[in-house]
Amino acid sequence: MPYTVSKLTDYSEEALDKAADNLLAALEQESQAVKSESDWKAFRDRWMARKNGVLTQVNELWLKAAPKDGKRDVGQRVNALKATVEENVQKSRPSVSATAMPRGVSAKAEVGVVKAYGERPIDITLPGNRRPLGAEHPIIKTMNEMVSVFRNLGYSIEEGPEIETDYYNFESLNFPPNHPARDTQDTLFIADQESKPLRDRLLLRTHTSPVQIRTMEKMKPPVRVVCPGKVHRNDAPDATHSPIFHQIEGLAVDTNITFCDLKGTLDHAMKAFFGSSVKTRFYPSFFPFTEPSADVQISCIFCGGKGYRDGGRCPQCKASGWIELLGCGMVDPNVYGFVDYDPKKFSGFAFGMGVERIAILKYGVDDIQLFFQGDVRFLEQFG
Ligand code: PHE
Repeated sequence: MPYTVSKLTDYSEEALDKAADNLLAALEQESQAVKSESDWKAFRDRWMARKNGVLTQVNELWLKAAPKDGKRDVGQRVNALKATVEENVQKSRPSVSATAMPRGVSAKAEVGVVKAYGERPIDITLPGNRRPLGAEHPIIKTMNEMVSVFRNLGYSIEEGPEIETDYYNFESLNFPPNHPARDTQDTLFIADQESKPLRDRLLLRTHTSPVQIRTMEKMKPPVRVVCPGKVHRNDAPDATHSPIFHQIEGLAVDTNITFCDLKGTLDHAMKAFFGSSVKTRFYPSFFPFTEPSADVQISCIFCGGKGYRDGGRCPQCKASGWIELLGCGMVDPNVYGFVDYDPKKFSGFAFGMGVERIAILKYGVDDIQLFFQGDVRFLEQFG
């Protein structure tokens, strides 16, 4: 009868000794019977196969079933048995047969080969193979950092689809059909949509502002969200343009939200992100979905807002001392009409910023294309 591992009912010293002795006797006997490579393989699998080898059964039937206070002792015994089994299996492998030896290999060399086999157990004290660590992409890193500034102000995160309908990207944001404001967005349309009503036609979203609408459709005020994501425009790539880029949208709607709140929020965010000495300036602008609208400029982080440095004009701010960074404004009451908010009760602000633009400034990158080329020499600098 071949040896089988049986359940233990008795976990006393003597019972454990006896069980171990039985196992070791069987191991010894079976290893003696190994004559060929195929015997050896069967022997190895019988004792060491992960699925149902003797060692696995020992683990299941002795160790796992052991009473709590005996686990430690049984664990040590099982480990010792394991080591003995492994050693025995290694040792009992038949020598590489003489015929398998390349001609001219001396007996001494043969011993060397066999020894090399015998000494193959893995040395776990050797250092492992190092795999290079990946680094967060600078755009994701910038996005996460900016989003966390707003999370600390109590904003939550919303996302929306990159393939949008005309309705969400334009119409509900107060860009009427054929309105010239649509021309500012250089839209990439999905082909063969003409049979659908205009509002259902698909396009690649040109900004993250559609997420404002999707958010207001699904929740009532108070709303405070930031919406990071990818956007697309029909722009030829060059050092400052890319047909794919990223934005972070912000939206806050509640009772009594004023332009003051917008200014305070963005001023805080810019200081938190770029450093507390940065100043902000709000410059009149136009977006169809905000009224009034503004472009936000920050004091130039390269020349400290002076407009000149190193004895010459500052190239980054073109000597103006200011750098334009994002668009914003108070949500236009017309937009509330599309989402069923009462414009008499609620007011709010929105803003949208380009992530690449912010990353370019923060890290002093001179070509937006570097973010999309996947050159490890560039990317690993952000690790
Ligand atoms: N969506 C605008 C753009 O992409 C930015 C913006 C967002 C302006 C929110 C105002 C409010 O240009």
